[in-house]
Amino acid sequence: MHEEPLVDSYGRHINYLRISLTDLCNFRCIYCTPAAGFRTMPPSEYLTQQEILRFVRIAGRMGIYRVRLTGGEPLLRKDILEIVEVLKSVETVRDLSITTNGSRLKPFLEPLKKAGLDRLNISLDSMDDFRFKEITLTEAYSEVMSSVMAALEIGFPVKLNMVILKGLTPYEIIRYVSLAKEYPLDVRFLEFMPLCGTGWRPDLVLPIREVRRIVNENFSLTPLARENNVAEEFGIEGGQGKVGFIASLTESFCNDCSRIRLSADGDIQPCLFSDRQVSVKALLKKGASDAAIEEAIRYAASIKPKGNRFFDEPFTGHEKDFEKYQNTPMIRTIGG
Ligand code: GTP
Ligand code: 5AD
Ligand code: SF4
Repeated sequence: MHEEPLVDSYGRHINYLRISLTDLCNFRCIYCTPAAGFRTMPPSEYLTQQEILRFVRIAGRMGIYRVRLTGGEPLLRKDILEIVEVLKSVETVRDLSITTNGSRLKPFLEPLKKAGLDRLNISLDSMDDFRFKEITLTEAYSEVMSSVMAALEIGFPVKLNMVILKGLTPYEIIRYVSLAKEYPLDVRFLEFMPLCGTGWRPDLVLPIREVRRIVNENFSLTPLARENNVAEEFGIEGGQGKVGFIASLTESFCNDCSRIRLSADGDIQPCLFSDRQVSVKALLKKGASDAAIEEAIRYAASIKPKGNRFFDEPFTGHEKDFEKYQNTPMIRTIGG
């Protein structure tokens, strides 16, 4: 790192960049997809591989060493392998990962490994074929599950994300944690967040405490160091993997947030739940100086809010709370 480290107005060190590569997705998850369908941007709006590389190099000099590629579904981006390869060649990138829905993952596993990808987070919202289809509106359960197993076999560290939604049964919670007992993977329960796809959906929300209770009743857990993770994680007695809880609404982790985002069309987004963003597209397209891009990144960090809506007013899960969050500000994002 050559420059001053990137620190926001509240003293938080920003060292983690999430890059959305596309807003296209081949799933239609009910907690993500707007009723009217996705309004996708034309690919001509996307930052190119070279522009992303340049951004990551500059951000790397400011202390950003963790980079996650997201979407939509990042594996739909045609040059995904080249992007992984070029980003991995940046000296400052020490942790390069992808979040994927897993449906198209299998044929990419070997090439991604070769290109230098460090690890994978895979969405798996149900281990029941029928419920999987009800949630994702896609019949891809067996492809996703077999990709998860193949990813482990090939040696990728794997985290599984389950967005907890009304209708989740104790049986399924136990099945999910049992998977982490049997295999060296990290299963995580995510609270639904009101993002711009669906907005606030009280009909879907299930506070995480009920899931925790079932897990604690059935498994013996050991707390693990949290560092800057969004998940509170635990080891499982007699198991190889871990279990984590991402309580975005009921226990916001904004105090330890180390992230900024870059949208597919070149906006730096300092917080998931703020509509403020800083465009770097024009700067990158017109070949502005590194100093100008660095300044834009520092400005974006400086407007990162202290906390989100749920940090100020935690969601309790009580009936009266359900009306409160109708107008929660949020960034334009598909899929978190
Ligand atoms: P690692 O910790 O690096 O493995 O990644 P991650 O867990 O942050 O990435 P992933 O894409 O798997 O995201 C999982 C979930 O974390 C998302 O659905 C969100 O619930 C939550 N999350 C990720 N980034 C943020 C953030 O900036 N703010 C909030 N509130 N939640 C986030
Ligand atoms: N609330 C919680 N998690 C979400 N994800 C996508 N949309 C939401 C939402 N509204 C999850 C995806 C993926 C991760 C990046 O975020 O399932 O696993
Ligand atoms: Fe696609 Fe992810 Fe949204 Fe599901 S949550 S529709 S997999 S972007």
